[in-house]
Amino acid sequence: MNLRRLRWLAIILPLLFLALLEYLRHELFLEEWHDFPGVLWPGALVALGVGAFSFAIFGTIERLEARVLDQNRHLSALNRIAAASAENLELGELCSVALDNVLAVMGIEAGAVCLLDVGANELVAACSQGLSGELTQRIQRQKLETAPVGAEVVHTGRPVVREDLLQSPNVSEAARREGFRSSISVPLKSEGEVSGVLALVSKRPRRFSPDEIDLLTSIGGQLGLAVRNAMLYTRSQQRNRELAALLAVSEAATSSLELDQVLDEALDAVLAVTTAEAAEIWLMEDSGELALHRHRGAAPEAFYERTRFEVGEGLPGLAAQTGSPVVVHELGADARFLRQQVKDLGFQTFCALPLRHGDQTVGVLAVAARPSEALSSAAEHRLLEGIGEQLAIAVENAQLHQRVLDVAVLEERERIARELHDGLAQVLGYINTETLAVKKLIASGRPADAERELSAMEAAAKQVYADVREAILGLRASSAQPGQLIPSLRDYLSYYSEMAGVPVSLSAAGEVEALRLPATIEIQLMRVIQEALSNVRKHAHATKATVSFQRTADGLTIEVSDDGQGFDPERLVRTGWPRFGLQTMRERAQAIGGECDIISSPGHGTRVILQVPLRRSEA
Ligand SMILES: Nc1ncnc2c1ncn2[C@@H]1O[C@H](COP(=O)(O)OP(=O)(O)OP(=O)(O)O)[C@@H](O)[C@H]1O
Ligand SMILES: [Mg+2]
Repeated sequence: MNLRRLRWLAIILPLLFLALLEYLRHELFLEEWHDFPGVLWPGALVALGVGAFSFAIFGTIERLEARVLDQNRHLSALNRIAAASAENLELGELCSVALDNVLAVMGIEAGAVCLLDVGANELVAACSQGLSGELTQRIQRQKLETAPVGAEVVHTGRPVVREDLLQSPNVSEAARREGFRSSISVPLKSEGEVSGVLALVSKRPRRFSPDEIDLLTSIGGQLGLAVRNAMLYTRSQQRNRELAALLAVSEAATSSLELDQVLDEALDAVLAVTTAEAAEIWLMEDSGELALHRHRGAAPEAFYERTRFEVGEGLPGLAAQTGSPVVVHELGADARFLRQQVKDLGFQTFCALPLRHGDQTVGVLAVAARPSEALSSAAEHRLLEGIGEQLAIAVENAQLHQRVLDVAVLEERERIARELHDGLAQVLGYINTETLAVKKLIASGRPADAERELSAMEAAAKQVYADVREAILGLRASSAQPGQLIPSLRDYLSYYSEMAGVPVSLSAAGEVEALRLPATIEIQLMRVIQEALSNVRKHAHATKATVSFQRTADGLTIEVSDDGQGFDPERLVRTGWPRFGLQTMRERAQAIGGECDIISSPGHGTRVILQVPLRRSEA
């Protein structure tokens, strides 16, 4: 009944009543109503009519007023929930505020808000009130199949009302046992998508008015929107964290040749952004076996129970053999997993991802967690695959780097062999022949000539002695820690100045000192500088020399200069000794993508200028 209809009734009913009364008076009881007590009848009928009329009208008005009051309370509950969602509360808190308000406004004693975990097909309680401990525990996480009412709400997207639970099918036994008699459940729904259920239960059988159902549906809509927003926010936060983790790993993989450092950073990133509790890297060895190379996170002793697997053995071996990820969520029951201690600690989830470069498997990234539902989201798998790809590149890089170092060591051996042959061996040969000559001179009574030969021998021996000391010094300097170019050069220069008797100053700005260059580049730079300084000692007759480093737009310029006698690089004087120094300096510069210029003229000293480009990651 609305006011408009009531108004018409208030006009029509009295008119009809009066018309009826007139009719009765004139047509039926005309005679009797003229005498006493018949004359009282019309008055009695009028009083009865007025009473009935006002009861009907005011009863309706009261019902309308009560409805308006109810709607006001509903509206203010809705407002409070809207205000709470505008406050950016955490989702659980917002659900709690909504539930409190709904229970108060509907006069119902118990209820819960459950959110839908789509991946696991489960309803997860966000908050509850008025339920027993057992029921609260039971609804913490419920498979949809075991929650018939919840499942109906989720699948139909419509409210489900049970006015008498005793008569209703599909009601959980636990709810009946607790003595609940009626319930109403509405979906948390936004843009047609159900993200959870708001359920209220009462211990009285009761009816739910359309207004109440509307109110709950609106609150379900508000909560649905909040859940959706919160999920979008969480998803974007998670995505951000994943991207940051991937970026960190790829930066580490491209900027550092220290494999262990890259692996540790990658494993830390995996632990930070996934539900994994432990992460490990297995590397494929030349023998064709997988070796456990790195472990981060929980229970290292248990994971180190086995540190080697044949390809095909254990889950890491299986991933390496098939070239595809192996994911297990019931580790306890999986006979292929061979580390019993890990099982004993309750780890149920294990993922092994092959690290592949081209069609070659270079290792396996494995992660583990105790809960069986861990690591099941597509996002986590995507992230692990991304990190796996970066790691495969890093491992390949590190192996290439090792090969380059091996080649560098071989080259170095060849150089030492050549220097020994060209320097020491030749001088020893020379001394051998000279000794014979001196013997003959003494035998033939020419001591003055013999003494001259002996002096020449002494000079040659001194020179080769200096060369050998310099070579040893050079070897010591180049075996210094990588990333320590300037400090080890500083050490080298102080020994060199003392040995060669030529003071050398070093000029390098702070930014150069902070550079971390790949070991391959450092060793070549060191060798070129050493050869240039060796030439200063042997040929320049200089009073001082300088080594200076300068950053350029795309690289580094190093200059070794002396104030010695200089020479004409175009016209090198032939001697009996072979010469390699200048040529080798140019080759070394080319090997690292740079070039080496020698600027000198007689009387004006010598400058050896080495220019090397640096990649962005090295710069
Ligand atoms: N700083 C310098 N001052 C004067 N002359 C130099 C200087 N550097 C090189 N030279 C001249 O250039 C020649 C070639 O140098 P290079 O380093 O190629 O051979 P080397 O020093 O004689 O022998 P090796 O380096 O093979 O032991 C030297 O013999 C020397 O005459
Ligand atoms: Mg030389």
